[in-house]
Amino acid sequence: MMNISNRPLIDATAIQSRVKELAAQLDGDYQGRALTVVVVLNGAMFFAADITRQMRADILLESIRVRSYTGTAPAPELTLFDAGNDAIAGRHILVLEDIVDSGRTAVAILNHFRARQAASISLCTLLDKPARRIETVEPVYIGFTIDDHFVVGYGMDYNGRYRQLPHIYVLES
Ligand code: IMP
Ligand code: MG
Repeated sequence: MMNISNRPLIDATAIQSRVKELAAQLDGDYQGRALTVVVVLNGAMFFAADITRQMRADILLESIRVRSYTGTAPAPELTLFDAGNDAIAGRHILVLEDIVDSGRTAVAILNHFRARQAASISLCTLLDKPARRIETVEPVYIGFTIDDHFVVGYGMDYNGRYRQLPHIYVLES
């Protein structure tokens, strides 16, 4: 039986103030550049909606969907989004993730864009869980670094549940 923690690990106010800081940092770093923001669905949907609406930069907003296999597959299967190459080639790509855990998903996504002539590729993740890293991946932008907890809320799920919660909670058994 799984439950969520009584108190949030990170509450909505803390999330929003960090999101605002990151948005300002991104605006500074990408000033004058052709920027395409790629949202990794479904987990990063709320993060992406909030951070992009705090940004002043002129952006193209795209999405990608990733299906992670828990079985023996060595890498997650990527189901590619259908944006034309116009959104990628020659443009600066900023990938928005909810959480980087083993790093497998992030590496697969970054490799996908490396093959498509982007001008640069950076990763921005709301949460980083470095304790469980398997692949070498360093997100350039990190909202919060957390300990080795399974978390839900603000887009993140457990078997499809809890995504809509405004705060981030720890899943407990
Ligand atoms: P990775 O490929 O192991 O880095 O895992 C990345 C994906 O697994 C994330 O994008 C999430 O969708 C999911 N994930 C990893 N840790 C958590 C968690 O604590 N809560 C919810 N989803 C998680
Ligand atoms: Mg995800």
